[in-house]
Amino acid sequence: MAYLEIRDLQTHFKKRSGSLLAPTVETIRAVDGVSLSIERGEILGLVGESGCGKSTLSRTVMQLIRPTAGSIILNGEDLAQLPAGEVRKRRLDFQMVFQDPYASLNPRMTVFSTLSEAIRQRHRGISRADMESRVVRLLETVGLDPRFQKKYPHEFSGGQRQRIAIARALAPEPKLIIADEPVSALDVSIQSQILNLLKKLRAELGLTMIFITHDLGVVRYLADRIVVMYKGKIVEEGEAEALFANPQNAYTQKLLAAIPKLAATV
Ligand SMILES: Nc1ncnc2c1ncn2[C@@H]1O[C@H](COP(=O)(O)OP(=O)(O)OP(=O)(O)O)[C@@H](O)[C@H]1O
Ligand SMILES: [Mg+2]
Repeated sequence: MAYLEIRDLQTHFKKRSGSLLAPTVETIRAVDGVSLSIERGEILGLVGESGCGKSTLSRTVMQLIRPTAGSIILNGEDLAQLPAGEVRKRRLDFQMVFQDPYASLNPRMTVFSTLSEAIRQRHRGISRADMESRVVRLLETVGLDPRFQKKYPHEFSGGQRQRIAIARALAPEPKLIIADEPVSALDVSIQSQILNLLKKLRAELGLTMIFITHDLGVVRYLADRIVVMYKGKIVEEGEAEALFANPQNAYTQKLLAAIPKLAATV
């Protein structure tokens, strides 16, 4: 059975436009009938141009936005039908990593406070000693020196900050990580370090991952399967290598043609 199954998901936004005297309400179908399933331990690459609905799809899966229609089935349970309180509990199993780690980390919190707050979400009455050893282990897992725990976000490089953001995502022991353009703001050399870290985490922790990017070259390196989105819909889906070798859809062919640089080097 798939770990997560999304069926005919729709997330629409209302946009007001027109003039004061003749207002109109336009419906933006950011996610427009998406169905897909993810196996446990799989890395699914979600690609497509800016505005095609990648972030909206991921935020809907996270239940940060409730869908307009459709189902998000996890362990046989439809998250879209659950009351808010139940959704909050399930959400601990899903964590996100964002493009800009500087914006997503609290500048006034040390690494220790950031990580301990995230650990406490799962382990409420945890002892100080247990907390300290978990923070050390998390930092080691993401390849950072445990002595960094007293430092603040501004004291790190972009790549190190993204490692801290990944450690924070891992802290509540999630089963699914949704990474939304996690390497787009990083130098190419640092990008591959972070991609390797994500690969290692999948292997060591058996994590399931949705990796969002507009860059097919990046996703080719990491993903088992790739889903191509265009205007809120999935236009192509396949095993990563097969999709690269023989893209069926005209839009996928165009995307592939646009990124020869990275695709050729990784
Ligand atoms: N909260 C919102 N209210 C209204 N419209 C929104 C909202 N969030 C997204 N949209 C619209 O939905 C569409 C999809 O946006 P989304 O951010 O999901 O795209 P994306 O694929 O993640 O793009 P990018 O690659 O630039 O991050 C866009 O037309 C966007 O303007
Ligand atoms: Mg986005």
